[in-house]
Amino acid sequence: MTEHDFSPKPYTNSIEKGKVTWESPSNIALVKYWGKKKDQIPENPSISFTLNECKTITTLTFTKKESNKDFSFEVYLDGNKKDDFKPKIQTFFERIESYLPFLRDYHFKIETKNTFPHSSGIASSASGMSALALCLMSIEKELSVRSSAVETSFNENLFNQKASFLARLGSGSACRSIEGDLIVWGKTDSIEGSTDLFGVKYPYKVHQNFKNYQDTILLVDKGEKQVSSTVGHNLMHNHPYAQNRFQQAHNNLEKLKPILESGDLNAFVKLVESEALTLHAMMMTSMPYFILMKPNTLEIINKIWRFRQDSGLHISFTLDAGANVHVLYPENEATQILEFIKSELVAYCQNGHYICDQIGFGANQIKE
Ligand code: DP6
Repeated sequence: MTEHDFSPKPYTNSIEKGKVTWESPSNIALVKYWGKKKDQIPENPSISFTLNECKTITTLTFTKKESNKDFSFEVYLDGNKKDDFKPKIQTFFERIESYLPFLRDYHFKIETKNTFPHSSGIASSASGMSALALCLMSIEKELSVRSSAVETSFNENLFNQKASFLARLGSGSACRSIEGDLIVWGKTDSIEGSTDLFGVKYPYKVHQNFKNYQDTILLVDKGEKQVSSTVGHNLMHNHPYAQNRFQQAHNNLEKLKPILESGDLNAFVKLVESEALTLHAMMMTSMPYFILMKPNTLEIINKIWRFRQDSGLHISFTLDAGANVHVLYPENEATQILEFIKSELVAYCQNGHYICDQIGFGANQIKE
């Protein structure tokens, strides 16, 4: 497939106005996307667990307008106008307009809210951009579908692929939020069907150990991101370790296959933690350099390691581009591990805040 496959056929319907709502989850990468080329093409493949509880809910109201000269939209977060979100959405519309030719024909009211606090340090770009991409896809579907016969040809697979393709143009990791539960993005030889253009469902056998995998997110630092992800990705240009890192991501995806198939939790723990620390090592060794972990991030990591050694349980951590810690563990060890988290780790969270999440299965349309 190429990007040309996402240019639509001429629309057969005309619609004056309407309203669609989608809820779309966040995701947590096991093998990290860090570094991108032009047009949001990743430098390396990544794989993530889709989350279940951390979601964005977006309602898009659209009304036909007189002139189709400019984009016209307004954005609200929790009912409050958010003009500071507009530049990102403007860029998104510019990137996707050749794939959604109706964009200039309507005025859009974008109303969005998150199930997690906005100032939690949890990136809302993956859930937010995927929710918006799905709303736009629902409009395209309405413009394209004339009869139930055509409806079946506008198949779900293509709908999800294009939604993921569009979401990627908004924020790379957003393309991994349309479906669940394990999503691969980025072409790599060891995963059949993988592509740089959109996220695909992990196509191989996954052991029972990884079903309903738990992710408790410890909110160590709820401040605004110190480095935007776009700035962060750009730091991989001319980075002294970049080529090795990109190759390592391919290798780690290949290594993950037998781990996921056999349910080898010890090997999983090692690979996932190494990925998280490598991501931060890349930031620490770029120019300019950054340390996004906080003292409490390290306290938590050390406690996790000690507890794992003492208990023999399969608790592990991963990190995003920030100080918060995602504590990962299998469902059948949840009681003991959650007990440990509450008694030993929550003290390191800002205001004691944490979020209990687990693997999820992707976005849902909310019908009125
Ligand atoms: C560290 O998807 O936020 O979370 O494409 O610039 O929007 P943009 O970046 P973004 O980067 C996420 C990076 C990461 C790792 C990951 O999710 O794979």
